[in-house]
Amino acid sequence: MKTLRLQLRFLLPLLLALAGAAYLASSLLDQLTMRWFTRDLNVRGAAIAAALTDTVGDALSERRPARLQALFERATKDERLVAMAVCGQDRNPLRRSPSFPTDLSCRDIESVAAQEDPRVTVAGGPVHLGLHEITLENGQRVSIALMQDVRFAELRSQNTQRYLLAFMGGLGLLVALITMVVAQLSWRGWMAGARSLLRGDGLLLPPTGTVSTTAPELEPLAHELRHRLRDLEDEFRRAQGMETSWSPERLRSLLQTQLRGDQVIVVSNREPYIHDQSPTGVVVRRPASGLVTAVEPVMRACSGTWIAHGGGSADRETVDAHDRVGVPPEHPDYQLRRIWLSEEEERGYYYGFANEGLWPLCHVAHVRPVFRESDWQQYKAVNQRFADAVVAEARSEDPVVLVQDYHFALLPAMIRERLPRATILTFWHIPWPNPESFGICPWRREILQGMLGSTILGFHTRFHCKNFMETVDRLLEARIEPEHATVTFGGAETLIENYPISIEWPTPETVARWAPVAQCRQAVIDRLQLPPDARIGVGVDRFDYTKGILERFHAVERLLEKYPEWRGRFVFVQVAAPTRSDLEEYQAFQDRIQRVTQRINRRFGQPGYEPVRLLATHHDHDAVNELFRAADLCAVTSLHDGMNLVCKEFVAARDDERGVLLLSRFAGAARELREALIVNPYHVEETADAMHRALTMAEPEQRERMASLRTTVQENNVYRWAGRMLADAGRLRLRDRIQARVEREGSRG
Ligand code: G6P
Repeated sequence: MKTLRLQLRFLLPLLLALAGAAYLASSLLDQLTMRWFTRDLNVRGAAIAAALTDTVGDALSERRPARLQALFERATKDERLVAMAVCGQDRNPLRRSPSFPTDLSCRDIESVAAQEDPRVTVAGGPVHLGLHEITLENGQRVSIALMQDVRFAELRSQNTQRYLLAFMGGLGLLVALITMVVAQLSWRGWMAGARSLLRGDGLLLPPTGTVSTTAPELEPLAHELRHRLRDLEDEFRRAQGMETSWSPERLRSLLQTQLRGDQVIVVSNREPYIHDQSPTGVVVRRPASGLVTAVEPVMRACSGTWIAHGGGSADRETVDAHDRVGVPPEHPDYQLRRIWLSEEEERGYYYGFANEGLWPLCHVAHVRPVFRESDWQQYKAVNQRFADAVVAEARSEDPVVLVQDYHFALLPAMIRERLPRATILTFWHIPWPNPESFGICPWRREILQGMLGSTILGFHTRFHCKNFMETVDRLLEARIEPEHATVTFGGAETLIENYPISIEWPTPETVARWAPVAQCRQAVIDRLQLPPDARIGVGVDRFDYTKGILERFHAVERLLEKYPEWRGRFVFVQVAAPTRSDLEEYQAFQDRIQRVTQRINRRFGQPGYEPVRLLATHHDHDAVNELFRAADLCAVTSLHDGMNLVCKEFVAARDDERGVLLLSRFAGAARELREALIVNPYHVEETADAMHRALTMAEPEQRERMASLRTTVQENNVYRWAGRMLADAGRLRLRDRIQARVEREGSRG
């Protein structure tokens, strides 16, 4: 009813306007047709007068009025010719037909005939008057007055008007009818669209691979509302990021509530547990990997499946028929699914493209990246093999897949192709360089496209997110919305967010098992045969050129040069876990470090004292923890590092709130751990001075700094890292699910 009233409000003026137009058109037409008729009648009159010239001349010259009378009678038999007369030059009627009104003089006729509309009304109705001069044979000039019936003309004009009015009326009705139907339909569409917008349906971005269902005319409104909604979401995300006390329980409950207990699949190159052959049988080893350190506790909390390269010498012996083994070995919480790689695959994909190409490319640590076509082919093929494994392990069409690191840049898009509804969270554990540096990679676009198959793409710092977005901006046709931290490529949106990775904060039970600090210190002194009063500095790294081990040793050397009081007393213990030793670059680097160690020890060593102790072997977590607890200072001097978890582990190990952390400003962790002594590792003098400052730092300052660092790491633990990511995933999944439901209902209705 309301819509009808609205439509009438629109239709009435429309109909009135049409009626006015019809009236105007008909009066114009009337004038026009009358003008045509007048002209026709004038022409016709002139023709009649010309035709009668001779007859009139004869009749007048012979003075035979009867003949003229007969002519008049004949002529006025024409139904349109009402009357006629012959007027002399003096405008007196010489002869007139009987029907010619006696009160009408030739002068009257002359003045009416000169008018634009020479019509008058006589007893019989409207007539047209014309006066046509003719010259007779004898040279006499007379005029023939003709009175022609114009009723037929008026009749025709009236008929034309009637037809026109009928036509306009019909047209008006047709237009009104069409308008009503269209208005009714689009009103319903609008109302339905607006209602669905208000419900929030049209505000959801279509799930990957589908098209938005919002009516095009409502798109601006939907766009605006979408913006508002995303602002709210952003705020919600930020608010959630601030919350403290993330624990395994909280992560588990998040999985149950926000992810409805959906399956979680992790993919990484390095496996969390390596089974190796040893003289005493099969032993289990935990690799030196920040990635594994962070993701493993998350998997223990989430269960699910972890897919990784089975690289241990006894790995094949420990899996079941499906290449799976439950881990941790002492109390299996989740499944480890191993993928076997041939030597050729490992050489091309892992050593070649990942570690000779992408690793130096992203770290910009002055080692040239090497890109070989054959490595790239292996990289693609191995990524595809892992994608197949993800599909095989998926129990539903929409698992949550956590893709780890630069070994799998192509994997997200490959998974997306086979499981379009999967939620893919990719975490890039290493830095992302600026667009110019990244641009030297021959397959830069393929890599970006592969990564943008992710639902969420995580980096450690805002800075790396910014670099990534700028790289995409430079190399791909994608829509970037920095205010919402999203990149839309090929119709699918990826959230680019920073999630600073961290460690599992030790539980009180774990801490209770640790030996006291003094005991740890004594154990280290004894084991390494250090001077009894030694001041100990430690470094714990993979034996990698990005870690700044060389620069650190130069700083130790400078310390001993500049502050001789430390000679014989200060020992720097460096744990360097062997890594990627098959690569020449690594062998050369490791050899160089050995040589520098020897040189420094030759220069400042004494019997029973070596200032640098290089322990280039794998150390398990307990051994490293003992070292951390024994140390006066811990040096993390990476030349470039995504985050670096060693510094966080050192902080976690120092429940006595003692010990000083030296931290490179080029490690992601420097943005969080502000109370460390922040150094530029390339500046040897500065690092040496920082070492001296650490060794001489008063206890209260140590305590103050360490207490603050511990609060930061405890709050920003690895459960928060995973929790924030999974909460974002849950939110996006919910959005996709609602959208899919709305579309299903829409297609049914
Ligand atoms: C870095 C990478 C990880 C890798 C770790 C150990 O932290 O980001 O992906 O697991 O190094 O390196 P490796 O080559 O021994 O696995």
